[in-house]
Formats: sequence, structure tokens, C-alpha cells
Amino acid sequence: RRWYSTAIEQKRIQALSGGGKARLDMQHRKCKFSARERLSILLDDGSFREYDTFVEHNCHDFDMETKRYPGDGVVTGHGKIHGRPVFVYSQDFTVLGGSLSKTNAAKIVKIMQKAMAVKAPVIGLNDSGGARIQEGVDSLAGYADIFQHNVMASGVIPQLSMIMGPCAGGAVYSPALTDFTLMVRDTSYMFVTGPDVVKQVTNEDVTQEDLGGAHTHTTMSGVAHRAYDNDMEALAGLRELLSYLPLHNQDPVPVLPCDDPIDREDIVLDTMVPKDPSVAYDMKEVIDRIVDRHSFYELAPTYAPNILIGFGRLGGRSVGIVGNQPLVSSGALDIQASVKAARFIRFCDAFGIPLVSLVDVPGFMPGTTQEHGGIIRHGAKLLYAYAEATVPKLTVITRKAYGGAYIVMSSKHLRGDFNVAWPSAEIAVMGSAGAAEIIFRNHPDKNKMEEEYRTKFATPLVAASRGYLDEIVEPRMTRRLLIEQLDLLKTKSLTNPWKKHGSIPL
Ligand code: COA
Repeated sequence: RRWYSTAIEQKRIQALSGGGKARLDMQHRKCKFSARERLSILLDDGSFREYDTFVEHNCHDFDMETKRYPGDGVVTGHGKIHGRPVFVYSQDFTVLGGSLSKTNAAKIVKIMQKAMAVKAPVIGLNDSGGARIQEGVDSLAGYADIFQHNVMASGVIPQLSMIMGPCAGGAVYSPALTDFTLMVRDTSYMFVTGPDVVKQVTNEDVTQEDLGGAHTHTTMSGVAHRAYDNDMEALAGLRELLSYLPLHNQDPVPVLPCDDPIDREDIVLDTMVPKDPSVAYDMKEVIDRIVDRHSFYELAPTYAPNILIGFGRLGGRSVGIVGNQPLVSSGALDIQASVKAARFIRFCDAFGIPLVSLVDVPGFMPGTTQEHGGIIRHGAKLLYAYAEATVPKLTVITRKAYGGAYIVMSSKHLRGDFNVAWPSAEIAVMGSAGAAEIIFRNHPDKNKMEEEYRTKFATPLVAASRGYLDEIVEPRMTRRLLIEQLDLLKTKSLTNPWKKHGSIPL
């Protein structure tokens, strides 16, 4: 060995040990893995290649010369997941609280730029006390660089965020700009301002957990898409999520080997929809019975559960699934459900992932809360997202498709590629009771007229006779028909008129 290699090796060992044993032990006591342990769990064995191991900050204020750590609190590089390339950064809480410095932000930006150059996803494992306080505005400049790169990468490469510790202040906006945010229960939290500031400004007493823990963000705010019990499960979940995604916006969607027969017919589907239109059933079960066995990866399962979104596979090919859930609020669309599905649809469209919509929707949710909250504006997002999408759009109406919600939910009129209904479908301006109340209000035999309205519209026949449906199909056939269509639509090519970008009603 040459004389200089010892110095290099010493530095490398120092980099590998992060903030030292005591802080690492503390990290473990909090049931958290270290930044490097997390990467070794996330990535395929032996695939991680680190960059910038020796980068150090160059802050001289507040005694910072004495607190230099090679790597500067973030481990960056690339590796593989299921054999495909990904770029990663993992914040090291044991080094100055994983706080973001100008130099460690530059490390993150470097891998984002490389990810854009080679077109591969970026995954951020967040565990940081936020902007490095000693650096002041330099640290903020670092965040801004990351945000700008997040925005430029949006719609080009998938960006995934895993929150595995604190993520506070400006730091929250990088995950917020990425496509999916996952959290670890009890050890992670995200908020713009912490409980102390909340107390000062609004006089509210709130814990970190209530303000921005995984439960809050997966049930109330919709900021996070999934929560996991611990680091191990969370990282496995991230690998699973990635398996559905192409590497970039021109990469074909992944097609995995499929041992579930593509012509499998499921007779349970034939009796899935109850005769009584007011009785609910579980649309998630419908999805599970149609897609490749165990392939439905649900996103935001506990936020706006009146709509289901997630990825699944049909004949091995990834699809984005949107389904109204009759079990919750009869599947009616409200503000949260509209926004949840709209964002998902736009992600799928940006990355060429075909959309499968399962429709059982009695309409938009009535009421002052919804109207005053802007359901018109938010519902329009969903309409906009479906209407602008150019990926293959396949729609199955299982039961109700009423009013504006019929149009919105990927109807034929919005350039649907394959629109079918089960025999149980009812397609009308509204339910027959409501309709009779309005148009037959003064009719001497209102009940008879209501029955007449029901007979006419509580079937898919009228819509099918106009060509608004391509076919009425037996429920058991749904899987094979969707797979056939996906195969056919592989060569679909549709482009929207040139524009700088649309003006989606935000
Ligand atoms: N800048 C610089 N150093 C930071 C830091 C930051 N933003 N956040 C944490 N650290 C350091 C701490 O000084 C501490 O250093 P030490 O080990 O040398 O004592 C180490 O990271 C661990 O922090 P600690 O506060 O002991 O951990 P904790 O688990 O008790 O609390 C936080 C974690 C994030 C709640 C707490 O550190 C905190 O409030 N940090 C500031 C958050 C903030 O306001 N950031 C700026 C907004 S963008």
C-alpha cells in the first residue's frame, strides 16, 4: 500500500461510521435503522455505489470547523431494485441531525441530475432536523436547488419519498413535490411548523404525532400515500411500489411474468352486485378478483376511502386502477376523493401507465360543506385529469353511473378506449326516486312513473344503444376482456394539442 492510502481509508472508515457509535445506538434505540443500513435493505445486494463519500461542509461559523464529517450527513449514490437502476439519497440523522447544508444539498442535486441524465427514478430516505441552522441562508439555497430539480424531474422520472424520522419546515416541500410519499408509523413526522411554534401562534396544544405523524397524513391531510409499522416493512413496501413503475416517461410499463391465467373467469363477480341498489358491496374485492392474484397495491387506503386508487397487474402488465367504493358514502365523489384520484390519474398518464376505472357512483356529494369547499373546482380536477389523459383508458360500469359523475368517471365521451358495463349497470341523470321527485312531482301516479323511469334507465341498454358503451359484458369475463384490450392498446398513440402546459383548475 502506498503511504497515502492509509489517509484515504481512515476518512472512508470515518464516513462509514457517520456520527459515531453513541449516536448510532441512539438511532437504534428509537427503532430506526441508520442511513446506510436502510440503503442495504432497500437495494439489491451489493448493488449500491456511493458518490461523494468525502464531501465535507465548508461552514466556519459557530464552531463548525470542529464538526466535520466526511459525507456531511447524507449518503448518496445509485443502486438497483429488482435489477433496475435507481438513484438514492439517505439522510444520516447521526451526523448533525441529518440537517441539510449547502454541500449536502449539492450531493443530493448531483444524483438528481444524474438520474435525469440516465432516466432512472430517485428515492429519498428522509430523516433530518431540517435546514442546518448554523449555515443560515446557504442551507435554504440548498433546499431551493433540490425543489427546482424536483419540479424539473416531475413527470420525467418517478420520484419517491420515504419519511423515516423528522421532516420539518422547508424540508417537507421536497417530498410534497415528489410522486409518492410513504411514512413509518411512530418514528416519522412531517410539518411545516412544529408544536412549539403552533403553540406560540395559535395557542393550540398538539403533539408531534397528532400534528404530522403517519396517522395524520394518511387519514386527514392526504400528504402521505402509505404508512408502515417499521423501517424494514417500509423499505420492502418501497421496493414493491417501484415494481409497478417504468424507469422514466418513455420507458414501457413493466410486464412481469404472470402465473394467473389471463382467461381466468371469476363466477363470483356475476353475483357481486346486490339486487337492491341501496345495498353496498366491496369494490376492492372486485378489483382483487379481476387483477393478477395479489397484485393490487393500494395507495392512500385510509384517505378518502370512497375512492380506491392503486396499481395492479393484468396479465403481468402494470395498470393504474381507480374505483368508486360503494362501502363508503355509497361511493359518492367529494372534494378529497376527486383530488386523490385526479393526482393519481395524472401520474399514470405522465408515465404511460394504462388506466382501468371501475365505476359505481351515485354522483357528487351534496351539501354546503362540499359546495363551500369548492367541489366544483376540485371535481373539475378529476374531469380534467381523465379528459387530458392519452394513455389507454378502460372503464367498467358495475352499477350506478349517475349525472356529472358518469361523465367524469372515464366515460366514452372523454376519449375512453374501452367502455363496458355489467348487466347490473344503471346509467342516468340521477337515481329514479330523485328523478321522479322532480319531473313527476305533480303526476297523479308518481310511483308508476318512477317505476317507468327505473325500467328505462336502471339498465345499460340505452347507453349501449347510443354507442356510449362498447358492450354489455358478463362480469366473469371482465379480466380477460381487459387483458385483451390492454394488449391491443399497446400501440395506441394519441397526442394533445401543443401547449406550454394546460391550466388545470388547482
Ligand atoms: N441544524 C443543525 N443541527 C441540528 C439540526 C439542525 N436543523 N437539527 C438537529 N441538529 C443536531 C442537534 O444539534 C443534535 O446535535 P448533537 O448530537 O451534536 O447534540 C443532533 O442534531 C440531534 O438532534 P436532537 O435535537 O438531539 O434530536 P431529537 O431527536 O431530540 O430532536 C428534532 C430532533 C428534529 C426535533 C430537533 O433536533 C429539532 O427541533 N431540530 C430543529 C428543527 C428545525 O427547526 N429545523 C429548521 C427548520 S427547516
